[in-house]
Amino acid sequence: AAPLLVAIDGPAGSGKSSVSRAAAERLGFGILDTGAAYRSLAWAAVETSADLDDSAAVGAILDVWTYAITLRGQQRVTVELGDGVVHDVTAAIRAHDVSGLVSRVSKHPEVRERLNEMFRRIVAESGLPGVVIEGRDITTVVAPDAPVRVLMTASPEVRAQRRAGELDGLTHAQVLADIEARDAKDAQVVDFFTPAPGVTLVDTSNLNFAQSVEAVVEIVRAAQ
Ligand code: C5P
Repeated sequence: AAPLLVAIDGPAGSGKSSVSRAAAERLGFGILDTGAAYRSLAWAAVETSADLDDSAAVGAILDVWTYAITLRGQQRVTVELGDGVVHDVTAAIRAHDVSGLVSRVSKHPEVRERLNEMFRRIVAESGLPGVVIEGRDITTVVAPDAPVRVLMTASPEVRAQRRAGELDGLTHAQVLADIEARDAKDAQVVDFFTPAPGVTLVDTSNLNFAQSVEAVVEIVRAAQ
C-alpha cells in the first residue's frame, strides 16, 4: 500500500523540522525533510563552482547526482556527483553560509519540478506505513492530495528566538534579520504563510515543543 502522507509546510524556526521529526517517530512514520535536498543542491553548486543563479547549470547537477537521505532514525544525507565519491553532507548543509545561498537554487521552477519528482519517488519507494514530508510547498504542490496537510507558523520573534538557540555567536537581531530576509526571498516563490484551502493551521507561538508534537499527532490520528 502507498504510505499515508502527512504534508507539513512552514517557515524557518516555526518548529516544523523538529516537530515533524518527533511526530513521525511517535507515529512510526518516516520523515522527509525536503529542505535538505535544496540545501544539498546549493552545496553541490558551490562544490562544483556552478552558477547558482543559472537554472541550466543547477539542472546539470541534477542530471548527474545521486542524492540519498535517511527517512528513519538519525538523519544522514549523502551526495554523489557522478564521480563515484560519496560526500556525507549532513553537517555541511546546515552551515550558515549554505543557508544564505539556498534561495538562489530553490527559485528555479525547473529545478523545483525535478526535486518534486524525486520527493514523490522517495516516498513511493519508502516501504513505510506513513511519511511526514516537510517543506514550503508540500501542502500545495508536492502532495496537495495528502490526507493530512498542516501549515505550521510562529511569530517572527519566536522563530528568531528558537533559531538563536541553535546558532552560536549570532545575536537575536542578526538571526531575526536573516530569517526575515530568507522568508522574503522564499515567499517570492511560494506562499507559505497562508494556509491553502483544507490545510490545518498550527500556530506554535504559544506552544512548547511537546504541545506542538501533540497537536500534529492528534491531527494525524483524527485522519487515520
Ligand atoms: O527548511 P529549510 O530551512 O532547511 O529549507 C532551506 C531552503 O530550501 C529554504 O530557505 C528554501 O529556499 C528551500 N526550500 C524550498 N522548498 C521546500 C523546502 C525548502 O524552496 N519545499
